[in-house]
Amino acid sequence: MLRIGMLTSGGDCQALNATMRGVAKTLYNNVEDVEIYGFLDGYKGMIYGNYKLLKPKHFSGILTEGGTILGTSRTPFKEIDVPTPEGINKVEAMKDTYNKLGLDALVVLGGNGSLKTANRLSEEGLNVVGCPKTIDNDVWGTDMTFGFHSSVEIATEALDCIHTTAASHSRVFIVEIMGHKVGWITLYAGIAGGADVILLPEIPYDIKKVCKAIKRREKAGKNFTILAVAEGAISKEDAKLKKKDYKKKVADRKYPSVAYEIADEIVKETGVEARVTVPGHTQRGGQPCAYDRVLSTRLGAEAAEHIINKDFGKMVALKGLEIVDIPLSEIAGKLKYIDPESDIVKQAKLSGISFGD
Ligand code: F6P
Repeated sequence: MLRIGMLTSGGDCQALNATMRGVAKTLYNNVEDVEIYGFLDGYKGMIYGNYKLLKPKHFSGILTEGGTILGTSRTPFKEIDVPTPEGINKVEAMKDTYNKLGLDALVVLGGNGSLKTANRLSEEGLNVVGCPKTIDNDVWGTDMTFGFHSSVEIATEALDCIHTTAASHSRVFIVEIMGHKVGWITLYAGIAGGADVILLPEIPYDIKKVCKAIKRREKAGKNFTILAVAEGAISKEDAKLKKKDYKKKVADRKYPSVAYEIADEIVKETGVEARVTVPGHTQRGGQPCAYDRVLSTRLGAEAAEHIINKDFGKMVALKGLEIVDIPLSEIAGKLKYIDPESDIVKQAKLSGISFGD
């Protein structure tokens, strides 16, 4: 009998279910006797002992379903050693649940913070395999996370829709795109959606240069400009601030988010009307795209194979066209940023996109 636990942790994304299905199908197909326990609402389920025994029927028909059949929540890694409000030691409680269920392995579908906790549990002696989940695509050690491409599709559609209205009204339109501290979704959707300006956390902008790009388009007879702005975009001036001072500035600013601040500055500098669109959590919703379904199925199958081969303490990852693995200890605490000198940025610039730098 092989007994495994599975959980989804952190912000949800498309293809969580597809990945769990990939793990389950591979185990059911290749191991005679398998029991899969699903922990509810992420690590919380392990801490409080909330789980359900999953059967093959639970994994049927979920390849195309967004969200997660297990529910999810955030259990910040920086508070992992802080007891719960009821005084429960989180790590000990998770070890207890794992041991009481007699698990042979735990599969964690998570982003950076969740994978740090996965590494901690691995260091504590649990047999853990990680799968890189997040729309942000910022997990170090993998070329792609599942969820990323689906979210790029949604952000691209937002930009596509904005195009027709922007052209009709002779306005500047800003679409603010998710991504936390990195600009991957913005970069991909910006290129795919034909944005004229792309602003990323990794390439601090100069508002004067952004306005220059708008004026240049006006001079060329274009009556609108579309900006794809990452939620973490930062000006050159702000990028020079100490982290603490920048955090305070953000907390004190009168704008709900950076896109509104940029819109205000553009209106002041150019006199052109500007509008902001924030697709927000729609970017994490709906069905996974075909790319993510394929990636998830492959990652899930490989995670299951690691369990069968008793090869633990690793995250399965995409490198080029291959699925590889990487020790959880190597990825813990690192973020995968866009290199401003990378090929894709160079080519976007060559094609006339302004990064405001
Ligand atoms: O990490 C995924 C993500 O959607 C980020 O892009 C975004 O910054 C964050 O989660 C939003 O978090 P929440 O769902 O807690 O508002």
